[in-house]
Amino acid sequence: MKIDIISVVPRLMESFFAHSILSRAREKGLLEVNIFNLRDYTGHKNGQVDDYQFGGGAGLVLMIEPLVNAIESLKKNTQYDEIIFLTPDGEKFEQRKANALSLKENLLLICGHYKGIDQRVRDNFVTKEISIGDYVLSGGEIAAAVIVDAIGRLLPGVLNDETSALMDSFQDKLLAPPVFTRPEVFRGWKVPEILMSGNHSKIEEWRHDQSQQRTKERRPDLLDEGQQNEIART
Ligand code: ADE
Repeated sequence: MKIDIISVVPRLMESFFAHSILSRAREKGLLEVNIFNLRDYTGHKNGQVDDYQFGGGAGLVLMIEPLVNAIESLKKNTQYDEIIFLTPDGEKFEQRKANALSLKENLLLICGHYKGIDQRVRDNFVTKEISIGDYVLSGGEIAAAVIVDAIGRLLPGVLNDETSALMDSFQDKLLAPPVFTRPEVFRGWKVPEILMSGNHSKIEEWRHDQSQQRTKERRPDLLDEGQQNEIART
């Protein structure tokens, strides 16, 4: 899979991808991430990429011309499945969306800054708009990093244990169960006995039960009616 990213602060992004699980995915050739500096695509002097908004108001807007130059130049080499703009007014990013995007071949992510990007870029080039949550970040880079990380770890071969991504919180709309490792007793605090029993079907049952209880307590909004009834019965 290939993910291209357009940013005004490419160095911020490079360091993230150089030191995460994704660096292994890149080394193994499972994921290619390329970061493009928007300033390389401006025809304006001093590398200008932003300007005041028409109609007045505080905050700068990324200009249409460098963005279109960058997008059109990248599109010459790659047919993108989606061109995604990261923005707080986009669709909320969830595990389901990460799963769907991890099946694509080529993605282009556009990071906004300041007040955002000229609306005409959104209207004419962007195919999807994504928000990572109801808060405003100073730029789309952190949101892009979140999305690349969430997608990248789902690619087959990136995680050592192929099943572990499937056991994550949210994969089946349930939070993950608690986990423990050695020692079995620490300051008198014991690991639940069932986990030491070697009885795999009982362990799976216990984990499922814990997941349901956790979800009910912490994120009841994730449970659909059927699941809520099932828990109420147990
Ligand atoms: N850019 C600024 N805030 C953002 C958010 N919450 N999600 C995605 N991109 C953003």
